[in-house]
Order: sequence, then C-alpha cells, then structure tokens
Amino acid sequence: MNRKEIKIGLFGFGCVGNGLYEVLEKTPGMKAKIKRICIKDKTKLRPISSKHFTFDKNELLYDDDINTIVELIDDADAAYEIVKTALQNGKAVVTANKKMIAEHFEELLQLQKEYNVPLLYEAACCASIPIIRNLEEYYDNDLLESVEGIVNGSTNYILSKTVDENLSYTEALRQAQEKGYAESNPVMDTGGFDAKFKLLILIAHAFGVVVKPEEIFNLGIDKLGDLELGYAKEKGYKIKLIAYAEKTADGKIRSFVLPKFIKNTDKLFYVDDVFNGVKTKSYFSDVQFFSGKGAGAYPTASAVLSDISALCYDYRYEYKKLNSTDILECDSEIYLKIFLRHEIVYTKIFKSYFNEVNESYFNHEIGFLVGTISLSNLKIIAKWSNADSSIILFDLIDQETTHSLIQQEELEFELIA
Ligand SMILES: NC(=O)c1ccc[n+]([C@@H]2O[C@H](COP(=O)([O-])OP(=O)(O)OC[C@H]3O[C@@H](n4cnc5c(N)ncnc54)[C@H](OP(=O)(O)O)[C@@H]3O)[C@@H](O)[C@H]2O)c1
Repeated sequence: MNRKEIKIGLFGFGCVGNGLYEVLEKTPGMKAKIKRICIKDKTKLRPISSKHFTFDKNELLYDDDINTIVELIDDADAAYEIVKTALQNGKAVVTANKKMIAEHFEELLQLQKEYNVPLLYEAACCASIPIIRNLEEYYDNDLLESVEGIVNGSTNYILSKTVDENLSYTEALRQAQEKGYAESNPVMDTGGFDAKFKLLILIAHAFGVVVKPEEIFNLGIDKLGDLELGYAKEKGYKIKLIAYAEKTADGKIRSFVLPKFIKNTDKLFYVDDVFNGVKTKSYFSDVQFFSGKGAGAYPTASAVLSDISALCYDYRYEYKKLNSTDILECDSEIYLKIFLRHEIVYTKIFKSYFNEVNESYFNHEIGFLVGTISLSNLKIIAKWSNADSSIILFDLIDQETTHSLIQQEELEFELIA
C-alpha cells in the first residue's frame, strides 16, 4: 500500500508538542516531517533553534506545502479557530484537545463532511490507550453495553499520592503539574470537567450519540476530605474518579463523572498514579479492560504519532454508529447509591432527598449519609452543598430496581395529590 507523505504544521511546543517533536526524531521510517511550529510566547527559551518557529498561525494554515495540522495548544477557543480553518483549507488535522472537541463536536463532524478531510484525536482520550479506534473499529458489530473508566491521569496521580503516600492534596497537585500531567487550569482536572469531555467523545464513538458537555453531570475530587478517605481505608476501598456511560435495553444512555469507592475485586482498583484504565462491556465479548499511561509528554505524543501514521494510509473515523436514535436518559430515571458528607445542620433536609438511607454517622459538626438517591436530587444537593460536603458513588442502581423506585415515587406522588 502506498504511504502518503505527511508535512506537518505544528501548533504548540509545550509538554505534548515538544514530546511529539522528540518522538518523531526517534522514529525513523515515518513518512512525516514537521515543517514549521507556531507558538505564542515570544519571550520563552526554546530547546531547538528559533528558525523552526513562527508566531503567525497563517504561515501554517495557508501554506500549500503543509497537508496536516497537528494542534497541541492549551487554549480550546484558539484551537477551535485553528482546526476549523485548517479543515476548511483541506488540511487533515490531528488534535489532543478534548475540551475543544467536546464543545464543538457537531460543527467538527459537519466540517469533516463538508471539506472531506479527516480529523483524528486518539490522544484526547486516555493519552496512550488506543480506545477511540477500538470503539470505532473493533466494536463495530458487537453491541456495547457500557464504558467505564479512570480517564484523567492527573487526578488519579493526586489520589494515589494522597492516599498511598500521605502527600497533601496541594503537594500532589504541584507534582502532577511539574510532571506535565495536569491541564493549565487545574480545575479542569480536579473538578471532573476533563473527564467529562473525554466521556462525551467516548459516548459518540461507543454508542453513536452526540452529547453536549452540560448534559453530563460531573463532580470531581476537589472536595474529598478525611472522613471519606478514612471510611474508604477502613472498608478496604480506594476512591477513583470514574467516567461512566451505559446503554440501556430501551436505547437510552445513562452517564456521569463521579468519584467512586472501588473494591479490590475491580480491575480499576489497581490503576494507580498517572495510569488510566477503561472497562468495556459488550454483549458477546463481555468485559474487556484497557490500561496505559493517561498523561505525560511521550505517552500522549505516542497517540498523536499513531494518528499521524494512520493519516499516511488515509485513515479517518467513519462514525458508523452516529445517527442512531438513542437518547440521554432523564436524570430522574437514574438512581445511585452514594455517600454524602455534610454539615449536620443540613442532615434533615439532605435526608429528605434520599429514597432510602442505609447508613449514617454524626459527630457534633459533620456527618455522612449512605443511601439511594435520584440523579436529579443529587444535582440539587450538589448545588446546595459547600466545601464541607462531598459526594462519592458506591454504585449505579440496576434497571430493575430503578423501575420499582420510579413506581414507588409515582405512587407516593398520587397519594399526596
Ligand atoms: N499534558 C498531557 O499529559 C496531555 C495529555 C492529553 C492531552 N493533552 C492535551 O494536549 C494539549 C496540549 O497540552 P500541553 O500539556 O502540551 O500544554 P502546555 O504544556 O501548556 O503547552 C501549550 C502550548 O500551546 C502553545 N499555545 C497556547 N496558545 C497558543 C496559540 N494561540 N497559538 C499558538 N500556540 C499556542 C503554548 O505556547 P508557548 O510555548 O509560546 O507558551 C505552548 O507551547 C491540550 O489540549 C491538552 O489538553 C495533554
């Protein structure tokens, strides 16, 4: 098969951009060369000659000799403008920017179709794990039931360091930033937003449904405290930030990003540090598990390299599952078993939002409740709660129990009416 020669215009020379430059240098035989690199800060010292760089994006975007734009910048809005212009100019694009993809998924699909050019983004989800291409190609026929994973390397690193090595949260975050694992704005990671953007991309490739970021509920790890960390230790659990999506038998998608107690019988229990892990469950193959480094210069650059290599063979995502009629499940039809730490002044009111409370504890100022709650009520509590509250998932309630909970609520509503 004839391989196309890839001439790259690279945007960004930070952690991943620099990593890609080095990875390409160390990969002889790749028919790919970086022609020019566009960066932003004129005052920064660079590890390679200044002749490689420009500060003018149009020098790359309107260069007919460049057939591929690799976008590795940390500004999602600027990235969208770059990617859009590149596609409109008939250039293939490789990007690692999940925020940009998640916020513009529909437009990006449209642009690929209209200008007949590929846009690849394997590095945007779980860095070194080839999950998008697997969802797209391997699970083309087998019916996927769920995708669940630790998809954010930075928060997993922070959780591993704070729990296993007793580092403070601030120190663990500082280390994650120093190692190039964290987003420029740390709230993107610690608030569960980065995981949500990735989940949205996984949902599109797993189930063929395009979801908007505001349609997926996310909580992060930034409010975790000693009470729940101690509770987890006592029970032999670990707390991990989990992205979850499931397709129900009636074609609805249930999804969220939440910190979750993980038992040692679960493969995700052993995914530590900067590693990511994704479990897929499908009708015929049952549960499969992928793991690999979820952040860092080389692991992320390896996925970018794989996309560039795929472009040599004219690979593109076909989005075969898109246009399915599946829809997002309504929040009031999703029930979760959760742990809620809160100030005791709120116990009575918070308790009233639960369908069932199985366990509770109080001292003179804080306490926790463990029980079943609908996602719509959980959202109300999450909005209300302050720094002294935190929410951790035990499990999603299965569909059969969910149906009986809905019936029970309808009955109670009728009785009140
Ligand atoms: N780091 C990871 O482990 C990882 C993993 C997966 C995905 N990603 C994604 O990869 C992308 C890059 O992340 P990173 O960690 O490499 O970021 P980074 O280290 O902060 O580097 C960002 C680079 O973008 C450049 N830049 C920012 N705005 C620009 C603009 N308007 N025009 C041209 N260049 C611009 C910066 O230029 P200056 O050098 O001039 O400041 C810098 O070189 C992000 O989308 C991130 O989400 C990162």
